[in-house]
Amino acid sequence: MFDKGVGLDLRNEPERCEPSQLIEAERMSEIGIMACSISHDMRHSLTVIYANAEFLERHDIDASVRAELLLEIQQTVLAMTERIDSLLQFGSSGRKSPLVREGVSSVVERAVASVKFHPDGQNVPITVGKLPPVEAVIDARNLESAIYNLLLNACQAAIRSTHAPEVKIQLTEVDERIYVTILDNGPGIPASIRKTLFEPFVTAGKPNGTGLGLTLARRIAEEHGGSVWLEDSNQEWTVFTLSLSQNR
Ligand SMILES: Nc1ncnc2c1ncn2[C@@H]1O[C@H](COP(=O)(O)OP(=O)(O)O)[C@@H](O)[C@H]1O
Ligand SMILES: [Mg+2]
Repeated sequence: MFDKGVGLDLRNEPERCEPSQLIEAERMSEIGIMACSISHDMRHSLTVIYANAEFLERHDIDASVRAELLLEIQQTVLAMTERIDSLLQFGSSGRKSPLVREGVSSVVERAVASVKFHPDGQNVPITVGKLPPVEAVIDARNLESAIYNLLLNACQAAIRSTHAPEVKIQLTEVDERIYVTILDNGPGIPASIRKTLFEPFVTAGKPNGTGLGLTLARRIAEEHGGSVWLEDSNQEWTVFTLSLSQNR
């Protein structure tokens, strides 16, 4: 299926518009809702960690139970860290850091490298297409985080493929606009969330999903004069594209 290559159909790009002008109050209220939901989950997670730590103090438990308790602590901490990271990303995405003219290829390379550290990205081969030496006026850290979120979703989908998991990423420049296209061979977007995919807190099929990755990615792209959209998705592959303007 990967013979298909990474498709890019510019007719799918949403109308160019100014960044969605989420007024500050609205953004703060979203952060408030998120903080409440994260605090709620964290209380549960801390209870698990506390209970496991109490068990581990006992001398009469065998090695396999000990290993299981430790694994559960590690997984719980990892899940909590992810939720806190998304709150931090969400909080900072509205902040205006100075935009700097930089190469976009190195941002793509850094996002690919960091997703390989994530447990869901570790065993997924990511093919990086030709990286043209294009530059744009960007907030590199935010842009890396947008691409990272799309790549992580792609890896999480690809590991559920009935074939060997594969993810591809490609960078293209067309008429002073830059397109980052990400393709995976996972089972496609669940029908239940097709229409609401980019709304905050929409998540499906993931035990630790926050439903913020796509919201954040799109918001960051909009801050760069672009967008993120779903190019194509079926039972064999899914393609997302992020666009940005070179001279914002
Ligand atoms: N490449 C993809 N393939 C299949 N489903 C996807 C893909 N990307 C996103 N999704 C679906 O969209 C949902 C929302 O994604 P996202 O906003 O990143 O939140 P999260 O990953 O935390 O659930 C995911 O839960 C998943 O069901
Ligand atoms: Mg995600």
